[in-house]
Amino acid sequence: MKISIVLGTRPEIIKMSPVIRELENQGLDYFILHTGQHYSYNLDKIFFEDLELPEAKYNLDVGSGSHAEETGKMLIGIEKVLKEEKPDIVLVEGDTNTVVAGALAASKLHIKVGHVEAGLRSYDRTMPEEINRVLADHVSDYLFAPTEKARGNLLMEGIDENKIFVTGNTIVDAVYQNLEIAKRKVNSLKKLNLNPGGYFLMTAHRQENVDIKERLKGVLEGLELVYRKFNFPIIYPIHPRTMKRLKEFGLDVSKGIRLIEPLGFLEFLQLEANAKLVLTDSGGVQEETCILKVPCVTLRDNTERPETLEVGSNVLAGVNQNKILEGVKIMLSKERNWKNPFGDGNAGERIIKIVEEI
Ligand code: UD1
Ligand code: UDP
Repeated sequence: MKISIVLGTRPEIIKMSPVIRELENQGLDYFILHTGQHYSYNLDKIFFEDLELPEAKYNLDVGSGSHAEETGKMLIGIEKVLKEEKPDIVLVEGDTNTVVAGALAASKLHIKVGHVEAGLRSYDRTMPEEINRVLADHVSDYLFAPTEKARGNLLMEGIDENKIFVTGNTIVDAVYQNLEIAKRKVNSLKKLNLNPGGYFLMTAHRQENVDIKERLKGVLEGLELVYRKFNFPIIYPIHPRTMKRLKEFGLDVSKGIRLIEPLGFLEFLQLEANAKLVLTDSGGVQEETCILKVPCVTLRDNTERPETLEVGSNVLAGVNQNKILEGVKIMLSKERNWKNPFGDGNAGERIIKIVEEI
């Protein structure tokens, strides 16, 4: 059996790492096909280094562009490699343009497709990721749903129950596998002159937030209110998309917000684990804060991770400054005793076992 791992962005590298580790441990025949959707050192290579992953056998170097440009180039490049390599199954992870291209190219060649992190739904089709999720799920042969809720979403869309496997989310594996390694290898608090519990951490990069001036302004105003109220520095490793928009829109950040370059996984994980609270519009960060028992305020109006709202690790605040401040107050008053709904940290192993059995 030959397995192809198709990935292309920061979260896919992180969340596929437990699957790749398992393939390595078992000595299975596989190769990594990187689309090159992310290519900057600190969105790409740093994660291969931090997570000690083998280099990709192929890199399509598609780079950035419109959705059609990115996806179109990827489809052409992926098809070519798959025709040569003839894998038995292609595994994709998540909801990016890379995922939809990998799943579609493989399924048209009648190669089996396994979708890791299947069944997530925000029910908001203005998000490019929601369209990618639905398309990838419906062309996949094996759907690795992280939770029962994700399985339920798939069943509601008429997907055959025999194709669905509830495995837990591989992000739990990645967090558990790397927290101790982070302690040994990096000291991001010292580097940034921070004390445990003495700062807020922030990320925002969603197209529907940062590409719209009024929404991005709302987020920045919210952060300023939060800083004025609590006086904790807000550490913001800023995604290049957001940096570009800040300059384009001529927006300033208040003095309490410390913009820094995006971090590697080990440093970021350490900052997350020791933060007083995290503000984010990231999917993965909503999950990680829940696993790490750090309160989270999500700068969105909906989430495809409703499990975090149910267990009480997260609230939705949108991009209105008063709602953001309110969200922070609510989350700071909560006890951090919620349960992690995303699994036991053995999702990677489970997924590969299922792939081998089928
Ligand atoms: C993509 C995913 C999003 C995911 C995010 C993870 C889609 C539709 N979006 O969004 O779901 O949450 O990755 O971070 O697939 N850029 C660089 N260097 C890079 C890559 C991008 O500077 O290595 C800049 C470019 O200006 C580019 C912009 O970021 O135009 C957006 O990149 P793109 O890959 O299109 O989307 P992301 O916002 O990264
Ligand atoms: N992350 C990181 N460095 C950073 C910001 C985020 O390593 O500076 C990690 C974070 O721990 C999480 C993942 O990137 O695992 C989330 O990726 P992102 O927010 O880009 O995408 P999303 O999860 O929203 O698709």
